[in-house]
Amino acid sequence: MSGIAIIGAQWGDEGKGKLSHLLSERADLVVRFNGGPNAGHTVVDSFGEIHLHHLPAGALREGCLGILAHGMVIDPWVLREELQEIERQGRPIPQFLISERAHVILPYHKEMELGSGIAKAIGTTRRGIGPAYADRALRLGIRFADLADQDIVRDRLAHMEAAHRNPVRPPMDPERVAQELFEFYAVFKEQIGDSQGTVVQALDAGRTVLFEGAQGTLLDIDFGTYPYVTSSHTTVHGIPWGVGVPTARVERVIGVLKAYTTRVGEGPFPSEDVGRLGELLRERGGEYGATTGRPRRCGWLDLVALRYAQRVNGFTELAVTKLDVLSGLPEILVCTAYRIGSERREEFPALLSEVSTARPIYERLPGWREEIRGARTEEELPEEARAYIRYIEDALGIPVRIVGVGPKPEETIFR
Ligand code: GDP
Ligand code: IMO
Ligand code: MG
Repeated sequence: MSGIAIIGAQWGDEGKGKLSHLLSERADLVVRFNGGPNAGHTVVDSFGEIHLHHLPAGALREGCLGILAHGMVIDPWVLREELQEIERQGRPIPQFLISERAHVILPYHKEMELGSGIAKAIGTTRRGIGPAYADRALRLGIRFADLADQDIVRDRLAHMEAAHRNPVRPPMDPERVAQELFEFYAVFKEQIGDSQGTVVQALDAGRTVLFEGAQGTLLDIDFGTYPYVTSSHTTVHGIPWGVGVPTARVERVIGVLKAYTTRVGEGPFPSEDVGRLGELLRERGGEYGATTGRPRRCGWLDLVALRYAQRVNGFTELAVTKLDVLSGLPEILVCTAYRIGSERREEFPALLSEVSTARPIYERLPGWREEIRGARTEEELPEEARAYIRYIEDALGIPVRIVGVGPKPEETIFR
């Protein structure tokens, strides 16, 4: 019995996809428990580069079952495109199971998001995530189980249409949407089922189950920088909520963090660098969104935010990714506290006006000159790079087990 969680410790895009794919080599099941196609998880391997939006990265491996658990919202149209891209790259056909209790994202959820101004204000991925979770909470949503009953689907669509009718939006055509959903169901009904039972049985049978988080801790609807967050539970607490397995079944909680910080979309980011360093990190790190292509905002590592992420998730270990991006910088800055007004603050604030005005207090560490993408053991890293990893470990009080030095699976150091 072994449950391993991969959780973003920052604002997303920490490299969860690479890690999940890598660790899935020894897993039987890989489970996505939150979010939907707002996620863009990159895997680079012998088939090429792929950005996954719904399917967990392990589903790319033969013999590994991908689970899309009920905590997700799933866009059948996007999922189909994702499967086509996998096929186009000549990859094995993924084995996957969609939870019968997961909710469907409909075309009108995307239109609602754009029409409401929320998309622009928050800088969302425009995938209809917020409206789909909102309809779920309003008891108007359609679940994948419901697709078996055409009357339920038609009835639910009629209620949604009436509840959200808006003169400035093109009217939804419920019958057309219903027909497309029925077509999807006809093709995929064997892949819709009891994900909760499947995961619990696998754990009971002693199988290894990976839980692949989407987004990051600071985008969590409760723990993140509200309202500049996503609409689901992105932390380790999303696992019992979104899969239905007891927390105790998750034995290892791997916090994934970049060796610096990025954020895409609007919202506070205390250690953001809008000058040359930010640009340099963006170019060197290829920091452009895997879902929307937007340039990511970049800055130094933020230990205030990371200590908070550690407190929330109880990470048992860390994976530090993209260390290679920092090579060549004469010094590396780390934000250890915030200045808010005239006060020095060590804790991550809940109040938006405080996080928004927080100024970083930095500690300076020596950088290294050498390229490190070829390093495969800790000993092959320059002393300054090793010292940086030890510094992070000491600051957060947990071991760094994995260090990423490039996007490919082999560009990884296990400590
Ligand atoms: P995710 O959303 O957490 O899965 O992360 P993304 O895939 O959105 O973004 C991470 C990006 O960094 C992808 O382009 C990865 O291929 C790349 N990447 C992951 N780990 C490393 C690393 O250690 N070094 C470098 N240079 N790139 C990495
Ligand atoms: P992965 O899993 C980075 C951000 C959006 C926006 C906010 C709300 O690849 O790390 P949403 O569309 O969810 O309503 O947008 O959340 N966001 C992400 N940022 N990585 C992601 O996923 C993200 N998913 C959503 O940019 O600021
Ligand atoms: Mg991503």
